[in-house]
Amino acid sequence: MPHLSLTVNGDKHELEVPANRTLFALIREDLGLVGTKDACRQGVCGSCTVLVDGVPMRSCLALAVRCQGTHITTVEGLKADGKLSRLQQEFINAGAVQCGYCTPGMLIMATALLAENPRPTETQVREALIGNLCRCTGYVRVVRAVMAAAS
Ligand code: FES
Ligand code: FES
Repeated sequence: MPHLSLTVNGDKHELEVPANRTLFALIREDLGLVGTKDACRQGVCGSCTVLVDGVPMRSCLALAVRCQGTHITTVEGLKADGKLSRLQQEFINAGAVQCGYCTPGMLIMATALLAENPRPTETQVREALIGNLCRCTGYVRVVRAVMAAAS
């Protein structure tokens, strides 16, 4: 089996992984980081999104072996000093979490947006999240939370 070395949420990992193992399976099943969710496993819903070297990636479509040497951030890695990030707190404040299944992917995408563009317009927020599907919120509160985090 291929040997894989990568860093997840600041922790270095050395693993033997099958060549066909997805990054999603590695994160959840091998590393036990179950915050990352899957809904479609087809690259459609965005709920499995993680950051790979700061770039959002759908982990259900990514092969783990292609992530050799990368730095990965999952929703668990958004906390700093044991506290929720500003964005996470604004999701709570805005009531943007209902069933919560889409929330990790939304948080990861919005984190990437704010890193690149700390003062996005509402249109830019909506465009950034267009590939993250939510069946519960109607998106209004999600967008409100991201705008609040950017304020
Ligand atoms: Fe990966 Fe839906 S589970 S995009
Ligand atoms: Fe339920 Fe988005 S909060 S799918």
